[in-house]
Amino acid sequence: METPSIFDRGIEKVKNVVSEASVEQRGFIKAIARTCYDGWLQGWHEGNGGNLSYRMTPEETSACRSYFSETVGEWVGLGVRAVGLQNECFVVTAQGAQFRNVMLDPASCLGIVEVNPTGDAYRNVWGFKGGGQPTSEFTSHFINHSVRKAVTNGSCRIVYHAHPTSAIALGSVLQNDSKKLSRALWQSLAESILLLPEGIGATKRLAPGSIELAGATSELMEKTSSVLWPHHGVICSANDLDSALGLMHTIEKASAIYLQAAAAKRGASGPDMPTDADLRSVAEAFGVTLEEKYLG
Ligand code: 13P
Ligand code: ZN
Repeated sequence: METPSIFDRGIEKVKNVVSEASVEQRGFIKAIARTCYDGWLQGWHEGNGGNLSYRMTPEETSACRSYFSETVGEWVGLGVRAVGLQNECFVVTAQGAQFRNVMLDPASCLGIVEVNPTGDAYRNVWGFKGGGQPTSEFTSHFINHSVRKAVTNGSCRIVYHAHPTSAIALGSVLQNDSKKLSRALWQSLAESILLLPEGIGATKRLAPGSIELAGATSELMEKTSSVLWPHHGVICSANDLDSALGLMHTIEKASAIYLQAAAAKRGASGPDMPTDADLRSVAEAFGVTLEEKYLG
């Protein structure tokens, strides 16, 4: 192959800079970077912990398409076929990226992937500068987007995974049991009744990044927006970034309140908690219905 001239290389460099800057300046990229930093400030993203994905709107995709790489990556098989995600584009955090750095360098810490027309493979079309790849949990994000898009009639656009301290600790204390966890959240903070009336699901302890973890999470996400990964973290889904961060925050805060109240009781019979009748009346005031199987 002919070696490109200095001129051609110069043009290529300018094109890359323009492509980077043009996508980085979009409101949705800035909002994702800010959310990542907000999560970092909460202490939920030690090292490269956590990942986030956003399903772009058709308008955002067409506005960015001319800045996608001319030499797009190879199709990468996902080992699963997701219903309803054919040809969709996602912004995804890069594997190994640190949430505190996304705002400083979006084109390295984030990338855009496009799903193929059969919904079982993706390719990188923007970002991942320096040879990055989508998060190691991308299979989970992908299947969960498929499930949540279907159950929310297309409203859900965010899947967000974090390592919130108290929620992980509460999981250990309550044997990572969905019913005990859901009740503890509802009883500790009324806001969690409003945001999470369907309760929180918990998977078994499964390997991070595994297809088994992705599958178990998506089964739970048929019924709930939020799932605890025992001794690892929480993954939640929402329509927009503020709702995703707010949901994670509510789960974490309710967990912290439960643990603090239980610790303050020091071995007594446990914190004084609202009864089922109390929980039902808060739910009624909020106009939501609590998942019945987690009551009683
Ligand atoms: P990634 O850096 O691949 O996103 O992994 C972080 C993580 O939290 C895995 O569960
Ligand atoms: Zn994790």
